[in-house]
Amino acid sequence: MPTIKTVAIIGAGASGAAAASALTAEKFFDVVKVFERREEPGGTWIYDAIPPTFDLVPGGLPYDIDPPLDIPKTLPTSTAPNTQERFSKTPVYSNLTTNVPEIAMSLSDTRFPYGPFVPHWIPKNYIREYFSIHGNDSLLVLNTTVEDITVIRQDAHGAHNRWRLTLRKHDRARGVDEWWQEEFDAVILANGHYSVPFVPSVTGLPGYLKKFPDRVVHSKSYRTPELYAGKRVLVIGNSASGHDIADQLLKSPTVQHPVYQSRHSRSLWEGDEPPEGLVWKPVIDEYRTDGTIVFADGSTLALDEVDIVIYATGYKPSYPFWNEAANGRALYNYPEGRFHGAYQHTFVTDYPTLGLVGLPRTLTFRSFEYQSIALARLWSGRAAQPLPTAAEQRLWEVQRISERRQSGKKFHDIEWDTGETDAYLSYLYRLAGLPLLDGTGLTPPILNATTRWAIENIRKYPIRRPTPPKQGDISGAETEENGWVLVRNGKDSLSFI
Ligand SMILES: Cc1cc2nc3c(=O)[nH]c(=O)nc-3n(C[C@H](O)[C@H](O)[C@H](O)COP(=O)(O)OP(=O)(O)OC[C@H]3O[C@@H](n4cnc5c(N)ncnc54)[C@H](O)[C@@H]3O)c2cc1C
Ligand SMILES: NC(=O)c1ccc[n+]([C@@H]2O[C@H](COP(=O)([O-])OP(=O)(O)OC[C@H]3O[C@@H](n4cnc5c(N)ncnc54)[C@H](OP(=O)(O)O)[C@@H]3O)[C@@H](O)[C@H]2O)c1
Repeated sequence: MPTIKTVAIIGAGASGAAAASALTAEKFFDVVKVFERREEPGGTWIYDAIPPTFDLVPGGLPYDIDPPLDIPKTLPTSTAPNTQERFSKTPVYSNLTTNVPEIAMSLSDTRFPYGPFVPHWIPKNYIREYFSIHGNDSLLVLNTTVEDITVIRQDAHGAHNRWRLTLRKHDRARGVDEWWQEEFDAVILANGHYSVPFVPSVTGLPGYLKKFPDRVVHSKSYRTPELYAGKRVLVIGNSASGHDIADQLLKSPTVQHPVYQSRHSRSLWEGDEPPEGLVWKPVIDEYRTDGTIVFADGSTLALDEVDIVIYATGYKPSYPFWNEAANGRALYNYPEGRFHGAYQHTFVTDYPTLGLVGLPRTLTFRSFEYQSIALARLWSGRAAQPLPTAAEQRLWEVQRISERRQSGKKFHDIEWDTGETDAYLSYLYRLAGLPLLDGTGLTPPILNATTRWAIENIRKYPIRRPTPPKQGDISGAETEENGWVLVRNGKDSLSFI
């Protein structure tokens, strides 16, 4: 491992906050900077009251819809402000609350002010304060987008690579974009993965979008049910966004009933029947030119039966700043849904000075902490264990690809109930090891019994079983509390993340 003294972090969300804390606590690095394209830290949790508007591209992937900007030939320079869509607004809606119990969601050294589930401004304020209480707010370089990352190869084997970052700061006062470059020994990608919306490819959808341009939106633009007063709405998807939005529309006194919901598979919160006022539909097969929507079971909704279609079909990770040509490879394999060569979802095998925080779908903020401490310790040369060899890291990846293919699970999903989260966090915990005796470095947190109990038993929504549980099986038995639900021995404990 080359000597690393300067580190750039991309993104000032929860991942960037955790990474900054872990790096500065090592008291080893000369420079740590956190580049954030927004005007403040908070990441996903910043609420944009004016929702983003963007073109929907059915089947479009980030390299089509979020391409790199043209970088000025000579730097530094200033240019007219960028007008290309960069998807920097967030999907947070007006009454979004968290869905992970706060004891498990908050970073280990500072709790949310209350819980178990909190409105969106609590994590936003928490992340901002987290930077400050750890003395890291001075590391923030705001309104600054990392537009390019190019490797600077120092030797033939690439063992001493450094990184050149091309940066663009929007100067609102002067109405210009400032461009410049900086070099770093290492880079942490903490840029999140819920920015670039995904809309599946459906026969006839491009024509429908053209003919009825205001009828189809993505859940990223959803803010409040009041905007749909008097409308007949079809929600596509039933994961966290689809479920929450359908629930809000259903409870709104002004949205027309029935609300339709197109489902690909059953979600954890659904029983045998939809609640009153909601009609379930299968996936959409086709949009006809007369505006009729045809579902996989042959049923249809005519043009005058639906006013708005909300695609709650998720997001794709996007790395437009990664200079594929200069760096020799792509970062993300979209057909397979995985980052190339990301050992333990954190360490980039062929680029050991590139780190990832926040990529896997697991115990969010808390897992970012384990990843960050492991990276900081490794890069300060104080890790308790070395990383396995590059060949062993590749073997891990090959085995995981094969195991996930067999189980039909996604590469970066890490389950709780199977013990996988425990194994994953334990690995990072052991790799990082203890801080120095004088307190230099962060201690990887414990996951105590209370936290584990909260993960397994406290839910935002009741779990609706499709069939009654067998006699004597208390799995899923529930008690409604004030704004949350207590479940007993519930399975799929983190599947809502
Ligand atoms: C609607 C919604 C609800 C959610 N609810 C929950 C919940 O209840 N509980 C939970 O635990 N998790 C929830 N999540 C997941 C949530 O994203 C994570 O909890 C967490 O906030 C992710 O943090 P992050 O720092 O990895 O990414 P983000 O919060 O996305 O932060 C990444 C940051 O990087 C910046 N950035 C990106 N590209 C660049 C660039 N090129 N240059 C500079 N800056 C850049 C972005 O502007 C952003 O600020 C939710 C996600 C969504 C979309
Ligand atoms: N705090 C909260 O309450 C809250 C609210 C919203 C979002 N979130 C978080 O935000 C993140 C993103 O969640 P998300 O719900 O936006 O995305 P997501 O979890 O990726 O879900 C995408 C959904 O789209 C469905 N889908 C895809 N193609 C479809 C098609 N052709 N027809 C019908 N359905 C289709 C998927 O179904 P299949 O899975 O069956 O393919 C899935 O239900 C998650 O971390 C989530 O926890 C949290």
